[in-house]
Amino acid sequence: VSAGPTYEDIDPVRFIGNRSSGRMGFAVAEAAAQAGAKVTLISGPVNLPTPHGVDRVNVRSARQMCDAVLAVSGRSDIFISAAAVGDYRVEARSPTKLKKTGKPLSLELIQNPDILAEVAALPKRPFLVGFAAETKDVERYARDKLERKKLDMIAANLVGTDLGFESSENALLLLWQEGSEDLGQADKKVLARALVERIASRFHTSIDKVATE
Ligand code: CTP
Repeated sequence: VSAGPTYEDIDPVRFIGNRSSGRMGFAVAEAAAQAGAKVTLISGPVNLPTPHGVDRVNVRSARQMCDAVLAVSGRSDIFISAAAVGDYRVEARSPTKLKKTGKPLSLELIQNPDILAEVAALPKRPFLVGFAAETKDVERYARDKLERKKLDMIAANLVGTDLGFESSENALLLLWQEGSEDLGQADKKVLARALVERIASRFHTSIDKVATE
C-alpha cells in the first residue's frame, strides 16, 4: 500500500507538496493487516502512527516512492496505490536557499514517473488498485483512468468539498472492468474495511479466472 503525499524539494527549505493526509492509505493498510495480509506501507511525509502489524517504509519524493514500491511489487499479490503522488518535480533543485531578486521566479518542472504504470509493466504484475481524486465528473474520469492505467480496480472520490483530503470521512465509488459499487460516505476506517473486502473478492475472482483459462 502506498499512502500520503510526496514532497518535491525546491531548495533546502522549500518543497512542492499536496494536501493528502495519508489517512485513507493508512486505514487501508490497517484493514488489510487485520484481514490477514502481510502488508508493506510505503508512506510519504505524514503525521500518523504505523498501524499494528504493518511494515512501514518512509519516503519523501515521487522517485523515492517509485523505487520503494518497485522493490516490493515483484513479490506482492496486490498493490493498492493510495498515495497522492506529485506528477512533477523541479528539474534542478537548488543546493542553497533561493534568495529574492525582485524579479519573477520561474521553476522548470519535469514529469515524475507514473508509479502505477511502472508496476503494471512488471513481468509478474500484482493485482492493481488505483485511487482517483477528481474535482468533477468522478465516474467518467475514473473509468478512463482504470482503462488507461490498466488497473484491476479503482476507488474514486470527489475532492474539493469537505470530504477527501484532510478529512476523517470520505465517499468512495469502486469501479472495475465489469462493474461498479458505490460504497457511500463513511469514516475512512469503515470505508477501508469495505474496500479491502471488495479487493479480496475481486482478487480471488481474477485468480480463479486465470486458473481455469
Ligand atoms: N499515481 C502514480 N504515479 C504518479 C501519479 C499517480 O502511481 N506519478 C497513482 C496514484 O497513486 C493513484 C492514481 O495514480 O492511484 C491516480 O492518480 P492521478 O494523479 O489522479 O492520475 P493521473 O493519471 O495523473 O491523472 P490526472 O490526469 O488527473 O493527473
